[in-house]
Amino acid sequence: MELWEDVESEYRERTPTSRERHEETRRHVPAGVASTYRAWDPYPIFVERAEGPYLHDVDGNRYIDFDMNNGAGMSGHAHPAITEAVTDQLGKGTLYTHPHDLLAEAARELKARWDPVDLVRFTNSGTESTMHAIRLARAYAGRDKLLKIEGAYHGAHDYVMISKAAEAGKLGHPKRPNKIVESEGIPEAVTETVEVAPWNDLDAVEAIMEEHVNEIGGLIVEPIVMNVGMTQPYDEFLHGLRELCDEYGIVYIFDEVKTGVKVAPGGAAEHYGVEPDLVTMAKSIGGNLPVGAFGGKEHIMRHIEDGAAHFGTYNGSPLVLRALVTQLRDVLTEQAYDHVDALGERLVSGYEEIMDDHGIVGHVEHVNSQGQVLFTDDVVRDYRDWLALIDEEFHENYWFAMLNRGVVPHPHHASQQWTISVQHEAEHVDEHLEAFKDVAPRLADEQPRRDESGRIESEPLAED
Ligand SMILES: Cc1ncc(COP(=O)(O)O)c(C=O)c1O
Repeated sequence: MELWEDVESEYRERTPTSRERHEETRRHVPAGVASTYRAWDPYPIFVERAEGPYLHDVDGNRYIDFDMNNGAGMSGHAHPAITEAVTDQLGKGTLYTHPHDLLAEAARELKARWDPVDLVRFTNSGTESTMHAIRLARAYAGRDKLLKIEGAYHGAHDYVMISKAAEAGKLGHPKRPNKIVESEGIPEAVTETVEVAPWNDLDAVEAIMEEHVNEIGGLIVEPIVMNVGMTQPYDEFLHGLRELCDEYGIVYIFDEVKTGVKVAPGGAAEHYGVEPDLVTMAKSIGGNLPVGAFGGKEHIMRHIEDGAAHFGTYNGSPLVLRALVTQLRDVLTEQAYDHVDALGERLVSGYEEIMDDHGIVGHVEHVNSQGQVLFTDDVVRDYRDWLALIDEEFHENYWFAMLNRGVVPHPHHASQQWTISVQHEAEHVDEHLEAFKDVAPRLADEQPRRDESGRIESEPLAED
């Protein structure tokens, strides 16, 4: 993606040490990053330290951070209570490959937040959580197929790396999307065990369930598709899926890795009032430590005792569970939710006012601590709307321009959303908005050209 010349040169002037460190790291580590999503052009910033709402890079720049580790950091960086708990645990051992009391303690915290969760198993990441939940669903139902949603991301394992960010020309019929493998190395044969459905189209989902009756064991959905902006469910879609899963004997899995404990204390299940059979979790349950979990109804979860395998040397280590218990019990309190939700409203109304003042086409999608600006007036209802309505290159320039003003507005890439942490204050939101005010005139000048239906065309208006 091309950056505007001034935006790129300012970025390069502010971050020469990051550039050097990236070149050096690339000599040892592919793309110079630990997860390929973190590689961006011309090069990523290298972080020296992070504390509270701030990131500091190796060039001495300070950023107010609304990326928050891709949404894992609702407690903010280095929260004192979590640091204290983890430090104490360091002296007591970081890993016991034997059971210990923190297992039940941590499970109780998750059960208290999610009504449908009777039993919990712990993992080390969101990827592991979805992988094991999917295995359990297939095992319980005694069926091999998984149904997933076009455009949705559920981690990096093979069964879900299908039709996540497929190219516009390859999508196939909107009601019966093609199954596109998203990485070399994933056998095409995997697609024989996965079906793909569109988001927000209950009829299409039902037709696929009918065609594959008695074949589909699990349906996995991210209740707000947060890899496609924040694409919310419309018209009782999630409730409709619940009914369909009951009718067709399919295990209904909510992937709450991103929504969990952030859009509400009990995640999207609470926010939308829907009861899935299984819930997958990671990210903000763990106060920036690598912990995941999956849980759900007892009759399904008990199948782990006599059928579905779930193993892992590091599962449920006391170190990460101390962080989890502290995070859920002492950090993400009722007052903390009031605090971040109020800041969320402040940020959203600030963005809307600035866009209005400058005639910028756009709106904000948000649910409590999570939100993002979309430079379109239209609602994005599914992955195909995203492709048609969002100019990712324009958004990329907004993102870098904000970085140049000391704000990381959200994780890199137009499809991602901000996280407001408990360590953000009104002043940080106001600084975010001041940066956007600075950037707004330039964005107003460069807005993408759209046709009468609001869909983007390739040339920017500024070239008229
Ligand atoms: C909805 C969802 N599920 C699963 C994952 C995978 O989680 P992890 O990166 O911890 O493996 C992610 C990561 O962003 C995600 O957004």
